[in-house]
Parts: sequence; structure tokens; C-alpha cells
Amino acid sequence: MSLLEDIRAAADAVRSCEEVTIISHIDADGISSEAILAQALSRDGIRVSTTFVRQLDPLTLDQIPDDSSLKIFSDLGSGQQQMLLEKGLEPSRTIIIDHHVSQPAEHGDPFIEVNCLNHGHEKMSAAGVSYLLARELDSINTDLAKLAIIGNIGDMMDREHLCLTGPAREILQDGVRQGTVELWEHDLNIYGISTRPLPQSLAYSDDMDIPGVSRDPDGAGKFLERIGITPIQPNRWPVWEDLSFDQKQQVCCAVIEQMVAHGKDTGRLFADHYLFPDEDRHQASLRNASEFATMLNSCGRWQRPELGGAICRGDRMVAYREAEHMLRNHRSKIREVMLYITETGVTELSHMLYIHVGGRFPDTIVGIGAGMALSRLNPEKPILIMCEDSLDPSMTKISMRTRPEVVSKGVDLQQALTLACEGREGCSGGGHRIAAGAFIPKEEERAFIEDVNRILAQQYAQSCQDHR
Ligand code: C5P
Ligand code: C5P
Repeated sequence: MSLLEDIRAAADAVRSCEEVTIISHIDADGISSEAILAQALSRDGIRVSTTFVRQLDPLTLDQIPDDSSLKIFSDLGSGQQQMLLEKGLEPSRTIIIDHHVSQPAEHGDPFIEVNCLNHGHEKMSAAGVSYLLARELDSINTDLAKLAIIGNIGDMMDREHLCLTGPAREILQDGVRQGTVELWEHDLNIYGISTRPLPQSLAYSDDMDIPGVSRDPDGAGKFLERIGITPIQPNRWPVWEDLSFDQKQQVCCAVIEQMVAHGKDTGRLFADHYLFPDEDRHQASLRNASEFATMLNSCGRWQRPELGGAICRGDRMVAYREAEHMLRNHRSKIREVMLYITETGVTELSHMLYIHVGGRFPDTIVGIGAGMALSRLNPEKPILIMCEDSLDPSMTKISMRTRPEVVSKGVDLQQALTLACEGREGCSGGGHRIAAGAFIPKEEERAFIEDVNRILAQQYAQSCQDHR
């Protein structure tokens, strides 16, 4: 079956029902997927209720209502089909919309699954798949393209190529045609183009190593002043979005000169940005896809996914004001995780780095902090972070992150964690080659880490052999 055929099968199942329960993930991709699906279904007169979960495991599975509604799992489910079958979910009344690695149930009919990864599209998230289903249901739903872009960017589907590609890029074109999305192609590869003072944006770009600027906001300020870009008022710097075309050119040229003069690689200097011209400049956190996604993450990963959902549906009053507080807290906590990792230091094994942060931070954010810390550590090796599971202290949550260059050398974190879970009572894991997670019993920690390191070593060795 092709992706389109899978989408059509899901659309047929949806059309024949009156009531749907969506079970979605708490991150930006899960929240935007839910908002796309719920709005598209409601427009068709279908009653929708939603449950957000941090992951599908025996504890969260109990939150799924035992009723006759059609169940749609979004941004999760593909890796937990056996568990869903054992829970009694009926295959013909259950749709899985996902982009995580699929692990079909051992016996029983397959669920109605629409997973872009099964069709070779690695760079599209669940929000993209949800959008394709919504568009199949009715072309009126093309106004939801913006949400699909936010979900894709939230899951970093642009990270490797620095732009959206494949079906996600086609969705982008829908948004551009609608006028809800502006594409800034080959722009400077920085984060926070609508809210961050420019020296901060330049200093904290993960992808660029600019001597005298990177990790040094004061140095970045001086660098900008030297080329005539100055604060708008004392201590108030413009954001990237505020600069004129000529000023942007000046900054780009100066950055290139500085990097080339010091022999730095400029290969990741430019990236696409996705702007939302309809969003108010006074609510700048929603003016571009990556900052919008951060806001959704700040709601979902701190137990308020419904706030993010309200923002996706257009609430710019009550929900937005609350979400602003969530965002401030989220940013400072992520920074704390990152500083804790870099200041405490990680343990280096032959093929990975690891650290245990105990109960200091919630398990929903440690992976993000670890991803950010990686560029300040040894980015050649994947990082594994452990913390106490906030729902069950006898369990440990594991998050792993690595970089595209490491994945291209044959490393697959999803495979490493699922293999290490195999045969271990109470362990479950999944995710992607570049970012994966697991829950394991506390007493398994040491043996589990050794296994993961051994599996990573095998992956490297296998890849070397394949390339001979
Ligand atoms: O559940 P899920 O797929 O949504 O989580 C994806 C996670 O992987 C996100 O935290 C995202 O930031 C991370 N990721 C990454 N690098 C990528 C793609 C995803 O760190 N290239
Ligand atoms: O939680 P974290 O952001 O580290 O998750 C990274 C990726 O691993 C996500 O895509 C998440 O859905 C997946 N994951 C999983 N099973 C787990 C934990 C995380 O599939 N038990």
C-alpha cells in the first residue's frame, strides 16, 4: 500500500463514524497533530474528545476510555501495537497516525496505520501525516497547513537538510499558497528570529562556531556594533526579523568573513525559516514555526497540553497569556538541565556519553536539555541521560540524542534502545534513529547502559563493514 492508500483507508474509517477519541503525545508535534485532527473532524460533524499522554505505557494506557468511539492515536502507537492489542483495542476501530518506528503486533489483525516512515519518508512528523488525512477528508482543511509545519519543525524534521523536504515541503507550499506561511529561504541559521535579541541569537546558534561570537553574547554585541548594527534603545537590541534586507546581508557577510578567516566550516550557516505574517508582533513567540513549537512544548511538557491546543485553535487571549508563563519557566528549566549536564560533566564510554540527573528535572524535558548540551560536549558520541520517572520512582526514564553526522555513520538510537529493552522485564523504548527514549526498572540501569554501549559499538562496526 502507498502512503496515499493508507491515508484513504484511514479517511474511510473516519467518515463512517460519529464519535472519535484522539490519544496524542504531549509535545509540539502531538499537540499540533491533535489540533489538526480535532478541527478537521469537528468540521465534518464528528464528536471529538482528546486525551494527551506523555508516552503509551501500561500506566497511561488506562487513561484511554473504554467506549465505542473510534480511537485515533497520533504521534504515538506505531511502536506499541502489541500493547494496544493486549489492551483490547479493536484493529478495525483504531487508527494510528505516526512517524515513529513501527513494531507490529505479533498476532492479530493489523491496526489502520498511517506512518510516513513505512513509506520511506523519514523527514515528516505526525502533524504532517495528520494534515494529509485532514486534506483528504476535505480540501477546506488546507488552512491547517501552518499547524503541520509547526509540528514538523517541533520534531526537527528540517534539522539535517536545514529545510523541510519531501511531503513536508509540499505541505509548506499549501501554507504559502494560503498566505498563512511565509518562506524565508537560505536565511541565517539562528534560533529566536522573532523574540531573541540579535547578539543572543548569534551567540547561541548550535550549528555555527563563530570565533569571538559563539557562546559570548557580549562579543556578539561588539561584533554587530563593528558593522553598524546597534541597539534600538540602550540595551534593547533588534531581533533578526526587525533587520532590513541590507542589514541582514551585512551580518551574513561579516559572519562568513569571520568564519573563513578562522578556517571554520560554513556548511550549516544558512537555513529556511517559516514565518507567520498573521501573528501579531506583540505576540512574537508565535511569529515563526520554531518559536511557536517551543511554546507548544512548554505547555505540553509541563502538563498543560490543552493550553497549547487552545493556541493552535487561535486563542490569543487567556491561553496565550498563560502559555507565556509556561514558556518562561520552560526556557529557564531547559537551560538549567543543559548547565547541569555541562557543569557536572558526563561519563564517557567507548561509544557514548551518559549522565544521571536523579529527580532534579522532570522526565519530559531532560531529552531536550541533553540535545542542547551535546554541541558543548563531544558531539561525535551519542548522549544518554537518565532521570527518575516522575510517575513511578521505581523506574528510570532514558533519553538519547545524537547528531545527523553520527546517524550517517550507522548509529540508530531507536534500534539500540529497543534491542537493549528486549528480554528485560518492564523495559520499553522507541523513537527515531537520531532521538529515542525508554523506561526501565531502576535496578537495570548499569547493565542497560553497558548493553546500549555494546550495541552502539556493533552498529559502528557493522557500518564500517558495509562500507568496505
Ligand atoms: O516523540 P518524538 O518523535 O516527537 O520526539 C522527537 C524528539 O526528537 C524531539 O525532542 C526532537 O527535538 C528530537 N529530535 C532531534 N533531532 C532530530 C529530530 C528530532 O533531537 N533531527
Ligand atoms: O522523551 P524523549 O524526548 O527523550 O523521547 C525521544 C523519542 O523517543 C520520542 O520520539 C519519543 O516518542 C520516543 N520514546 C519512545 N518510548 C519511550 C520513550 C521515548 O518511543 N519509552
